[in-house]
Amino acid sequence: MTQPTSDTLASLFRSRYGGEPPRSAPPPANPVLETLLAHRSVRAFDAERALPPGTLEWLIAAAQSAPSSSNLQTWSVVAVEDPERKARIAEYAGRQAQVREAPLLLVWLADVARLRTLADDAAVPIEGADFLDTSLMAVIDAALAAQNAVTAAESLGLGTVYLGAIRNRPEEVAAELGLPPGVFAVVGLCIGWPDPARPAAVKPRLPQRAVLSHERHAASDTVGHVKHYDATMQSFYASQGMPAVRWSDHSLARLRDPAQLRGRHRLVEALAAQRIGLR
Ligand SMILES: Cc1cc2nc3c(=O)[nH]c(=O)nc-3n(C[C@H](O)[C@H](O)[C@H](O)COP(=O)(O)O)c2cc1C
Repeated sequence: MTQPTSDTLASLFRSRYGGEPPRSAPPPANPVLETLLAHRSVRAFDAERALPPGTLEWLIAAAQSAPSSSNLQTWSVVAVEDPERKARIAEYAGRQAQVREAPLLLVWLADVARLRTLADDAAVPIEGADFLDTSLMAVIDAALAAQNAVTAAESLGLGTVYLGAIRNRPEEVAAELGLPPGVFAVVGLCIGWPDPARPAAVKPRLPQRAVLSHERHAASDTVGHVKHYDATMQSFYASQGMPAVRWSDHSLARLRDPAQLRGRHRLVEALAAQRIGLR
């Protein structure tokens, strides 16, 4: 007997694409796909409600279950719960209020120091660590681990939001967290119970035809797709009672000049100082 297709998935798909339905029948009910498609960043937490005991251990088990390039596991993570430390990090990261509100901040680190230590101990060279690809590998590993933790947290009913602004003032963050050379804070992740009084909604994405090509990269009708998406996002923002800015305007403004990078335009310098391979 074939299982019925999932109405929930069809409805989540429509939310993800501003009302556009899937072209294929949704698969049968599937809690993993439902969790993934229902993702929304949460910036309003119930600051009084603690995480259930043991949550961190399971989130990290999910994170460590992510694939890892050559299984080198070139990442680590710092769990920050101390309100004063969170407040200082919030300050370094553009004063984002959710960092204070969320009971847990996970800082995901690209970490080549572990292998450097092993090389020192074994008195063997580790020249590969000086190269950009190794650093990129560590960043990718850290990001995959972090995203597994996001999905795990959301599957438990928790809310999360990334904190890219942790890279605004990398030296201060490194000092705050005691990061040794070879370790760099890639992204933060705020985790807590969503405040039911200030719920977040599923934010539509570009249509699949704008991001997916087959066999070879195909220049899509970028301007046409984005015009359509601008309209989708304007109605999304209006439905949320937010200013109905166009996604294209917002996105271009975000990259207009180095000042928009809020300090991150000097990341190469900070990484070099932290002995992250850039060759
Ligand atoms: C690497 C990364 C860094 C981010 N940094 C921040 C941040 O510093 N502050 C914030 O409020 N949201 C941050 N976000 C969340 C994005 O703004 C959000 O994912 C995007 O607007 C799409 O919304 P959604 O996650 O609700 O679908 C970040 C997301 C990613 C992937």
